[in-house]
Amino acid sequence: MCGIIGYVGHQQAAPILLDGLARMEYRGYDSAGVAVRSETKGLQVYKSKGRLQVLSDMIHGGADVEGTLGIGHTRWATHGEPNDINAHPHVSEDGRIAMVHNGIIENYMEIKQQLLRHGVTFKSETDTEVAAQLLEFHYNECHNMLEAVGRVLRRIEGSYAFGIICADYPNALIAARKDSPLIIGCGENENFIASDVTAVISHTRDVIYMEDGEIAVLTAEGVNLFNDEMDPIDKPHSHIDWDVSAAEKGGYPHFMLKEIFEQPEAVRKTVSPRVREGRVVLDDLRLTKEYIQGVSRIFIVACGSSYHVGMVSKYNWERLLRRPVEVCLASEFRYCDPLVGDHSLVIFISQSGETLDTMAALRETKRRGGRTLAVVNVVGSSIAREADDVLYTWAGPEIAVATTKAYSTQLVLMDLIALYLGDLLGTIEKTEYDTILHELEVLPEKLERVLASIEDVKYFASRYFNHDSIFFIGRNLDYAMGLEGSLKLKEISYIHSEAYASGELKHGTISLIEPGTLVVALGTYEPLFDKAMSNVVEVKARGAEVLALATEPFKEKMAHTADSVIAVPETHPVVQPSLGVVPLQLFAYYVALQRGCDIDKPRNLAKSVTVE
Ligand code: F6R
Repeated sequence: MCGIIGYVGHQQAAPILLDGLARMEYRGYDSAGVAVRSETKGLQVYKSKGRLQVLSDMIHGGADVEGTLGIGHTRWATHGEPNDINAHPHVSEDGRIAMVHNGIIENYMEIKQQLLRHGVTFKSETDTEVAAQLLEFHYNECHNMLEAVGRVLRRIEGSYAFGIICADYPNALIAARKDSPLIIGCGENENFIASDVTAVISHTRDVIYMEDGEIAVLTAEGVNLFNDEMDPIDKPHSHIDWDVSAAEKGGYPHFMLKEIFEQPEAVRKTVSPRVREGRVVLDDLRLTKEYIQGVSRIFIVACGSSYHVGMVSKYNWERLLRRPVEVCLASEFRYCDPLVGDHSLVIFISQSGETLDTMAALRETKRRGGRTLAVVNVVGSSIAREADDVLYTWAGPEIAVATTKAYSTQLVLMDLIALYLGDLLGTIEKTEYDTILHELEVLPEKLERVLASIEDVKYFASRYFNHDSIFFIGRNLDYAMGLEGSLKLKEISYIHSEAYASGELKHGTISLIEPGTLVVALGTYEPLFDKAMSNVVEVKARGAEVLALATEPFKEKMAHTADSVIAVPETHPVVQPSLGVVPLQLFAYYVALQRGCDIDKPRNLAKSVTVE
């Protein structure tokens, strides 16, 4: 959602804040702002609607703003439309306190009414301004900022990561978190707060992950941490070992394209350390054979593309484990009184590890006694920390809002877990185990081959980019993969698109097919290839234009009926979606490019969804 940055040290704060915001702009980009304190000018606040560049131009890259203490914010609006007034930081009525916030304060209306009765006036429609005004109210009562922050945190309900500065505390930056990510970057004679390590990695690799209920007071010299009782606490520091260049475009026009091309390497990094002597080794997984034998239900819970990984995995896991697997949208699962108990294994898939719905579903599962296993990309994220077990996808930082390499690494990690559990349960034939594992190991080379055929996809994108409605159809794993292909297309190109199980078309949706409608027919699941072909015939008979996807051996057969065919190398059916999804990602990318869309930052979206 929103991105927060804060700096205290001896350098000019504003350029550092802008640089940090630029690295987190993927988190939200409808407005941005900074507040910096200086000896001579007091608190200076600059904010503006629109992209960060507008703000940066306004203050000449920060050069105009004096001061070595400041906070910054890039917003994804929840309360109040994106405009200059609703942009953060929000300042208290007397102008002494500035605050940036990520999250939602659920009882803000009630608090606002109370403050209005005390004569406080408000400028914006935001819940954050209410928190800033409440802080001033308590500060005026107790004259101690830390105490006042504690009172505010006890009063508000909802989720927050706060960065706070006060004109009366020229050397201190205050931070607090609950259900929204916040890290502390520890430098030499300077310290930082940020929503994401990408914002501080060019300054320091030494970070502290804040936990719910914690408060931090940062000065240039050090960091003091407190728990929710305001008792001082000590916390371990973590070292970030990935390269800064991983969070930069490196010559690609967009992060999305770069990340699509990083997939072979990301898959290799996720798979190869987990294969030893022909076996899957999951050192971090503490599920025993006895435990897994007693599991009666497996749930996979996630949102968006991560949910689509769950859809693919359902087919694969049921095939390999012979256990029922239910895939649930986290936003539904948390409120559906889920039938989770002692004998349930619940897998949570999340790139960011911060998605609020997934997090809430995880907590609900633990409350009901279910065992939780998280598949997460961001190390140290909330979901990773709270799950009973965590397995990381080693995709590296993913910056484009539309996920690609995180999706692919989630997919292969879920395949590895299935092999591992299937082996424990004795439900996988040895030859099938060996073949799938081999195919996962050679997948990076096959992915390179798919990426080498980029020109074909570019050509089809230029042919079809002006359609205003596109259907993806497929059966079994092709259907599950089509869900992701369709989401990729709609989120970045804004073309209306739906994915259907091909067999369902005739139960209603086929009425939408008319001469010229573009249907992307997925026929890579070889066991049902003939069925896929008959669905192509069905839509062709109604005038559809068909762009098909098939494995190389089936390309020619598909070409008899479809208008155009993209071929991908053949692999084991369990692994096939890992290859098939790549042309769909590229297709979405090039269609969006042709349409002039803002590919890395599609409208209304944000990378990490930490609100409900
Ligand atoms: C789509 C996309 C989203 C995320 C979803 C869950 O390209 O990226 O649909 O998959 O918001 O996010 P995570 O995986 O971070 O929980």
